Amino acid sequence: MSIKPLRWGIISTGGIATKYAQDLLVDPSTREVSDVKHVITAVGSRSVDSANKFIDALKAAKADEGWGWGVKNGGLDNVKGYGSYEEVYADPNVDIVYIGTPHTFHHRNAKDALLAGKHVCCEKPFTLSLEELDELIALAKEKNLFLMEAVWTRFHPIAYKVQEVLKSGKLGKPKRFSADFSSDFKPDQQPDSHRMIDPKLGGGSLLDMGPYPSVWAMLMVHHHPLNKDKTPKVVSSYQSIYKRSGVDASSRWIVEWDGLCLGNLMTDMTTSGFADNTALLQCDKGDLVVENPPYKPSTFHIVPHPQLSDGDLTKRETIHAPVHQGNNGMAYEADECARCIARGEIESKRMPWDESRVVQGWFDTVRNEGGTVLKGKKGTVGQ
Ligand SMILES: NC(=O)c1ccc[n+]([C@@H]2O[C@H](COP(=O)([O-])OP(=O)(O)OC[C@H]3O[C@@H](n4cnc5c(N)ncnc54)[C@H](OP(=O)(O)O)[C@@H]3O)[C@@H](O)[C@H]2O)c1
Repeated sequence: MSIKPLRWGIISTGGIATKYAQDLLVDPSTREVSDVKHVITAVGSRSVDSANKFIDALKAAKADEGWGWGVKNGGLDNVKGYGSYEEVYADPNVDIVYIGTPHTFHHRNAKDALLAGKHVCCEKPFTLSLEELDELIALAKEKNLFLMEAVWTRFHPIAYKVQEVLKSGKLGKPKRFSADFSSDFKPDQQPDSHRMIDPKLGGGSLLDMGPYPSVWAMLMVHHHPLNKDKTPKVVSSYQSIYKRSGVDASSRWIVEWDGLCLGNLMTDMTTSGFADNTALLQCDKGDLVVENPPYKPSTFHIVPHPQLSDGDLTKRETIHAPVHQGNNGMAYEADECARCIARGEIESKRMPWDESRVVQGWFDTVRNEGGTVLKGKKGTVGQ
């Protein structure tokens, strides 16, 4: 049976949009996928030159670069470069828009794309506030269009493997959780206009890095078979301020899954995280430790408690589950978009709106309790 390719329009030509576009052009069979196909039919940028350079760079793939397969097999045959995002939304050859702009534009861009009748896959953090997100969800429902936050890690092979272990029950009941994404961005060496520094671009550690401790919290605790609390709340939080621009240098927040356990979540843009551990779920029979980096780990460990000497959990176990070679790790979430759209679904079961809402709500609370300049900012809701 021939598969109708999903036709992507890419919004913006920055770092992550480049990686995403490359992954759309990788041979799906290299990740054992045979039910979906992707092509890129439009690239939109604030400058048409930048859009065309982006396309030319993709076309210039070397033989050993995974996306060269798509270039050779029609993945860019009908692509157009545009000097605005609006032209991508208006292009009848685009089915879905991928949004890779800085956080503060996600709501505006996603709303415009939905209003133009396009499905949307939007980078994390989904929006600047829960209010903005709720407006997008309402619009997707009204227009019957697919909408998903691009939390790529959820779709990685390791995410499913970690969950298999937790669902097996062999670690027992969760007792406490911690997760961290810290990386030294050397903020003092960055220009004021850098998106991690500039409050107008949603700068700071929380909004950029917070989705990662959060994704492991959702996968390991929220999805745990023993969790009954679907609206876990932040019970305490703190942000330290990067004085030059007033954004958060680091954020800490404690989440409570009522009746189950507490989670300690952390981001920091001034120092790197601990290499051997990005997320840790301690349970009553043993612990599960996921290695760094939180956005694309390939290894985790099952670690028995030293005081336990009987039962099946006596040996430390290490499990490797890397992303398939040849893709950057973003192809899996793109496949999810294609499958949902082919089935006529407007929401992903693996990345449901309610779970984006939980995490967006945490960020709202942390920002509002923290002393950063983003406090209280609601973004472009209603505009
Ligand atoms: N999933 C992941 O692993 C991952 C990783 C990194 C980033 N992200 C997310 O992706 C988004 C973009 O991050 P990035 O690292 O790709 O950023 P980036 O390299 O700075 O690229 C952002 C792009 O957005 C466009 N843009 C529109 N208005 C802009 C403005 N006023 N200032 C700067 N750029 C503007 C620009 O493209 P044009 O000039 O072509 O319009 C720019 O190249 C962020 O929300 C971030 O959280 C996700």
